[in-house]
Amino acid sequence: MNLSSDPFQVLMKGGVGFSSVAFLPGGVQIPLIGLGTAFKAGGRPEEFKRALKAALLDADYRHIDAAWYYKTESMIGEVLDDLFLKKKLDRRNLFITSKVWPCFWNDPEISLNHSLHDLRIDYLDLYIQHWPACFAKVDDEFGRVAVPTDSRKNAVIDPSGDYLVTYRKLLDIKNSTGKIKAVGVSNYSIPMLQRLMDETGTIPAVNQVELHPYLPQLELAEFCKSNGIIVEAYSPLGSLGAPILKIPLIKEMAASYNVMPVDIIINYLLKREIVCLPRSSNAERIKKGFTFIDLKDADVEKINNLGAKSPKRYIDKIWAYWND
Ligand SMILES: NC(=O)c1ccc[n+]([C@@H]2O[C@H](COP(=O)([O-])OP(=O)(O)OC[C@H]3O[C@@H](n4cnc5c(N)ncnc54)[C@H](OP(=O)(O)O)[C@@H]3O)[C@@H](O)[C@H]2O)c1
Repeated sequence: MNLSSDPFQVLMKGGVGFSSVAFLPGGVQIPLIGLGTAFKAGGRPEEFKRALKAALLDADYRHIDAAWYYKTESMIGEVLDDLFLKKKLDRRNLFITSKVWPCFWNDPEISLNHSLHDLRIDYLDLYIQHWPACFAKVDDEFGRVAVPTDSRKNAVIDPSGDYLVTYRKLLDIKNSTGKIKAVGVSNYSIPMLQRLMDETGTIPAVNQVELHPYLPQLELAEFCKSNGIIVEAYSPLGSLGAPILKIPLIKEMAASYNVMPVDIIINYLLKREIVCLPRSSNAERIKKGFTFIDLKDADVEKINNLGAKSPKRYIDKIWAYWND
């Protein structure tokens, strides 16, 4: 099998689902569905850990999308440690991602070491630059301030910063230690990806971006595909409260295929060869899993059309380049 020509060659193990994988450079296999682990405001740790356990033991998730910024890595580490000790799970069968936040833009290995320590593992399958931004370094008694702000509540950007420095440092860590198997980026635009490729002569394994029917990212996804970059969809359900599942067209399609609205979204992303990262802190919901269907191309088109003309973003940070 020639893996270099198409990174999204799917290796079927149990049909399209949690154990189906695409290939990252170097033959690293990435499961197509990963559990999002951002912590909901007011969330309860016990609920989070129960949901994660349900995902790993009952729903067959093998891919966890974590980040230093989410402040959930120590809870994930606790659950993993317990399952590894009880031999219910093997580290080698899991795909674990973490991300470096822009306050560590110039010293990402510090952040990486925090993540590995909290997750209680000694390597990541994928380490991602969370945002192409460089925040000023402000330390406090709890560690590093994630988003330093000025008197107007704007993020304080380090004027000497360059987001490509972070990416280069991640490559150095990958090449000189065994701590990372693959390096990716997140929230990169096409010009940023082009600059990265031109100036470093490398291709990031993934670009993780907000992607759902109201933000189908058609041009960006096409660019990534033509350059061998896997696209990962974050906030696939529209984030808090899952507003995407309430779109009338999605509900109608779900009824016509006799599945749930969430199944339409998961199948829509898989059909577009996009890795999806849904989050839920509801163990019962997670245990139900998803139903995999053969979504018609015409229906994919209809969903694409929803947001192609007037896209809607749910994660709109003030430091994001699209606010420029
Ligand atoms: N790279 C980045 O900059 C970035 C930014 C944002 C997110 N992310 C990643 O992407 C992941 C997912 O995005 P997200 O956390 O914004 O949210 P999301 O997955 O789009 O939506 C989560 C919401 O959907 C609800 N939900 C989940 N399954 C449902 C179902 N079957 N029916 C009804 N409601 C359902 C959840 O409620 P319950 O908890 O009650 O189930 C929660 O309120 C994050 O956790 C994180 O890992 C990355």
